Amino acid sequence: MTKMTAKDYIAREDKFGAHNYHPLPVVLEKGEGIFVWDTDGKKYYDFLSAYSAVNQGHCHPKIVNAMIEQAKKLTLTSRAFYNNILGEYEEFVAKYFGYDKVLPMNTGAEADETALKLCRKWAYEKKGVPADMAKIICCEDNFHGRTISIVSMSTDPDSYAGFGPFTPGFVKIPYNNIEALERELQDPNVAGFIVEPIQGEAGVFVPDAGYIKKAYDLCKKHNVLFIADEVQTGIARTGKMLAVDHEGVRPDILILGKAISGGVFPVSAVLADDDVMLVIKPGEHGSTFGGNPIACKVAIAALEVIKEENLAEKAEKLGKIFRDELNAVESDMIEIVRGKGLLNAVVIKPKNGKEAWDVCVAMKENGLLAKPTHGHIIRFAPPLVITEEQLREAIEIIKKTLAQF
Ligand SMILES: Cc1ncc(COP(=O)(O)O)c(C=O)c1O
Repeated sequence: MTKMTAKDYIAREDKFGAHNYHPLPVVLEKGEGIFVWDTDGKKYYDFLSAYSAVNQGHCHPKIVNAMIEQAKKLTLTSRAFYNNILGEYEEFVAKYFGYDKVLPMNTGAEADETALKLCRKWAYEKKGVPADMAKIICCEDNFHGRTISIVSMSTDPDSYAGFGPFTPGFVKIPYNNIEALERELQDPNVAGFIVEPIQGEAGVFVPDAGYIKKAYDLCKKHNVLFIADEVQTGIARTGKMLAVDHEGVRPDILILGKAISGGVFPVSAVLADDDVMLVIKPGEHGSTFGGNPIACKVAIAALEVIKEENLAEKAEKLGKIFRDELNAVESDMIEIVRGKGLLNAVVIKPKNGKEAWDVCVAMKENGLLAKPTHGHIIRFAPPLVITEEQLREAIEIIKKTLAQF
């Protein structure tokens, strides 16, 4: 048999897979720590981390072992029966983040959907909003996932166009705009405000200092649930365990995904206190795989790694170095460098018809993988296990690449 080339792999995906992504032309077959290797054996710095899912590094041995050990014993019971692992995880994760309870799901989008359902039910049962009148405020340029209800919140035509009719009950306001929030909160039927503490997919848009705290305080004043979507920003990525920790805010509903499993398994979680969580009764919500024993063991290990390896502190320190170094680069293609911790982005000014995509392809040639978002922004989010020396080496690759243009 002749060896398949990268072209062959790409052509096969193209032929048999739906065309719902536009990947960079690189075919990966191995990952370890901050590095990935392609099918020709070429090694790359991974500066995407599977959209911040692989914060603990690729194939972290402790997390992979937890998966293997549990997979040999019991993989799935469904929630029709109890098992000996789910409660262990629920206690662990609830205490880890300081909430009464967790509702386990699998993907970020499912966790967001769960939060929306919890919020609406809370509004009817606790706040006294008339049946089917609950509204949830969301922000323009948000990214909460891909389901019909979630894209009903989206203002990005790539996300919503062609998928109507949409779920009603969402009110869209500009992000980072406290006045707009205060205006909408006057409506007594508002049940919740869902927000990303930093808008990741929008291009790592960091709101003004104090925005999240002010928004939280306003929600409290109006008896509205503050819902933080930390699927991308959570789990040490921005230099604290949660991005809301930068402002000392404790969301009423906390949504986690991605790195809660270190990218090893689809795990997501919704955390809340009893007053909110117990409005959902048996039979009203769930998932066959949500909270399965493998997911539980994987998530415990992944969250332990975050603390054992001080990944939040590392992200905080190394993020500053990254932004300082890139801000010092003389390149007329760099419009702005922004971010928090190791969630950063560079806004690219096109030059001679060359755009962010071309920069990413050139960085790939030079041994570093990153992906453009919205055409002109490159997100840089390496696994948090990167060392300072490795980070500096990666920065040299970025500099060298920009100099080529
Ligand atoms: C903030 C945020 N919420 C939700 C999601 C959706 O997560 P998933 O792709 O696991 O459904 C994402 C994915 O990028 C995200 O960034």
